Amino acid sequence: MHDQPPAAGPAPALFSWEFATDPYPAYAWLREHSPVHRTRLPSGVEAWLVTRYADARQALADQRLSKNPAHHDEPAHAKGKTGIPGERKAELMTHLLNIDPPDHTRLRRLVSKAFTPRRVAEFAPRVQELTDRLIDGFVTKGSADLIHEFAFPLPIYAICDLLGVPREDQDDFRDWAGMMIRHGGGPRGGVARSVKKMRGYLAELIHRKREHPGDDLISGLIRASDHGEHLTENEAAAMAFILLFAGFETTVNLIGNGVHTLLRTPDQRARLQESLAAGERGLLETGIEELLRHDGPVELATWRFATEPLTIGGERIAAGDPVLVVLAAADRDPARFDGPDTLDLTRRDNQHLGYGHGIHYCLGAPLARLEGQTALAGLLTRLPDLRLAVDPDELRWRGGLIMRGLRTLPVEFTPNERVLT
Ligand code: HEM
Repeated sequence: MHDQPPAAGPAPALFSWEFATDPYPAYAWLREHSPVHRTRLPSGVEAWLVTRYADARQALADQRLSKNPAHHDEPAHAKGKTGIPGERKAELMTHLLNIDPPDHTRLRRLVSKAFTPRRVAEFAPRVQELTDRLIDGFVTKGSADLIHEFAFPLPIYAICDLLGVPREDQDDFRDWAGMMIRHGGGPRGGVARSVKKMRGYLAELIHRKREHPGDDLISGLIRASDHGEHLTENEAAAMAFILLFAGFETTVNLIGNGVHTLLRTPDQRARLQESLAAGERGLLETGIEELLRHDGPVELATWRFATEPLTIGGERIAAGDPVLVVLAAADRDPARFDGPDTLDLTRRDNQHLGYGHGIHYCLGAPLARLEGQTALAGLLTRLPDLRLAVDPDELRWRGGLIMRGLRTLPVEFTPNERVLT
């Protein structure tokens, strides 16, 4: 908790170990003293950080800020080394998060026909079953690492199921995704190999589903048509890849950060447990939004590139400059949220930016909500005395730029002999 005005003084060190552990004091300083802040990222790229809620919301909706990395005015010496998502021109990178209208409008409309809220709602029993099975895996032990044994496998199996990846192949995805999460999005060694394998697998799967369609999302993507238009095989493969990629680490960290916050806020956690015991869903629903606002998974992943000179919060941004909208900073802005550093699971006036805003608003938000709610309810109901197994200071955060999340989350609880599946 902070909830105090940030001290004046020099700019805080960004991207340090302290920053990875708790970036919020630095964000408070930036919001107050340098709300649109030019900084050099660890990769060497100069970028603008937008930290106030009003500026962030406006920037996310500003069509002069492009998602296409081709607009990045990148110095020749940094070509290919900046770590900017999608700057590699591989065909899988031509996806929703890297393109602008009109292509974005066309692809988003097509994918929205297949990835509907109804499909997600019908998927609820499967998410429940996965949650039960994963908790069964450690419920009798009395201890677990909730990242590796729970938060990590849940979304990867869920997305694989949704896409139509056969069960016997899903552990391969788990391994490839594990490589990507451990080593970040860099183009090196194991990560590049994992992306290549995933790409090869998806291309083949799409081919098979075209011959033998099923009731899965990949078949839906192939079938989807809009005014007679269809996705090409490459577009369908890129779409499947982005659904995996965008929906995986985010959800791992929604669950990990959410459980961590609850374990450190006993009064709020007790209220949630009471309401779940009474069979209510309301607090779980507002609560998952509040956990996302309070310590969401997306740190600096919302890149934009200025296509022309423009002003944000009084700062002149040159054409070609990268702009990073810092959702986590905006979502703790006291100008928008009362007591922004305090977790209040009942918070209703909570239009946070955790899922973005505007045309790129998270396509997977209904699935993320379903997974987050099912996961938290499962853990708190079946492991009622769940607690951290280490001192909070010993927890290690990943410290990547893109996502905020824990490396491990060791917990303890009274073992329970009752397995469900
Ligand atoms: C876009 C957050 C889960 C698929 C986004 C954006 C954010 C976000 C902030 C916008 C990025 C920008 O404007 O630059 C989250 C969070 C999640 C989550 C916090 C979990 C807690 C998922 C899931 C899926 C998914 C489960 C799919 C399975 C997508 C896609 C986009 C997107 C496809 C691109 C949409 C577009 O560009 O039109 N997400 N996401 N996300 N998300 Fe999510």
